[in-house]
Amino acid sequence: MTRAAGSRELRHVVAVAHANIALIKYWGKYSDARGEHQAPATPSIALALAELTTTTSLTRIGGGADVIRLDGSTARGRERGRITDYLQLWRDHGLIEGRFRVESASNFDRSAGMASSASGFAALATALSAFVPGGLSTQRLSRLARLGSGSAARSITGALSALPAGRDPAARLLVPAEKVPWGMVVCQVDAPRKKTGSRDGMRHTKGTSPYYAAWLAQCKRDYNSLLAVLRLTPGSGSAGQPRARVNLSQAGPLIEANCLTMHACMQAARPALLYWQPATLALMQATAQWREQRHCVYFTIDAGAHVFLVCERAALPLIARLARRVPSVVRVIPSLPGGPARIIDAQ
Ligand code: PMV
Repeated sequence: MTRAAGSRELRHVVAVAHANIALIKYWGKYSDARGEHQAPATPSIALALAELTTTTSLTRIGGGADVIRLDGSTARGRERGRITDYLQLWRDHGLIEGRFRVESASNFDRSAGMASSASGFAALATALSAFVPGGLSTQRLSRLARLGSGSAARSITGALSALPAGRDPAARLLVPAEKVPWGMVVCQVDAPRKKTGSRDGMRHTKGTSPYYAAWLAQCKRDYNSLLAVLRLTPGSGSAGQPRARVNLSQAGPLIEANCLTMHACMQAARPALLYWQPATLALMQATAQWREQRHCVYFTIDAGAHVFLVCERAALPLIARLARRVPSVVRVIPSLPGGPARIIDAQ
């Protein structure tokens, strides 16, 4: 048991989780004869970011309905429904009882589509786990976070973590934050709010992209190749290993290729899921130019327009300076790896 044992006596808990950005992407829901599951069809590897956090407080309330406040405003509509449904899921599993006031705030722009569902559901699940009598194992917690948002499973373990494909996987820590030799420069670009969320986007891609089967097969190969570069085997639980002797010039091309394969698959959906903006492409091209100038840097892009640059820790300030010069980049955040989700207050 890695979490503090939960208690029905508790009234108020605060938890923090970091956003994570996939280096090998999850895109597609796992399905079998019983239908589609809230689980990944592709295995993924992601880096949690110390600078991007969501802090969530949970307070027990007497009765009535759950109260949900996001970034200082009362949540409504679909946003509210997604969170109240998630609380109900914990009640249906018999893990918690009663109603809660949820207050959640991220230190980055939630509407910009930068992995806020990962840190959001990981922080919420971690806070909820404090109310579970006897507590929850990290694996169980990661599985429960995944039911809120697939990528949230990886924010539970944080740092460099993997989430295997399958019906009910949990994330596992590959390399702890202090031993990950890389960081990431988050480049937020000028972009309209996304029209398609990841759940609908994944369904649409699976249903209409002629490249979907090829994506599933390639992503599995990329996952195994990145584990091999990291000198980790698919089954190894390697937390606590010495700093992975990881050569970014070996891992980087895999990271970019995996991202581009996912986007090619999405772009071939009908109608296309095209998330990029001109500044997205400008950053992709700039990354190649920076490499020609001998800077070791590689990009990745989620289902959105923002670009995430992976580089060695020591290169973060320089890569951030270069990124700020690219037109239409509205915000640049250099970040070291972040740790696991954690409870910071319990009363
Ligand atoms: O966690 P979700 O359901 O929002 O899906 C995440 C999908 C990507 O961000 C595009 C890839 C990933 O592995 O995080």
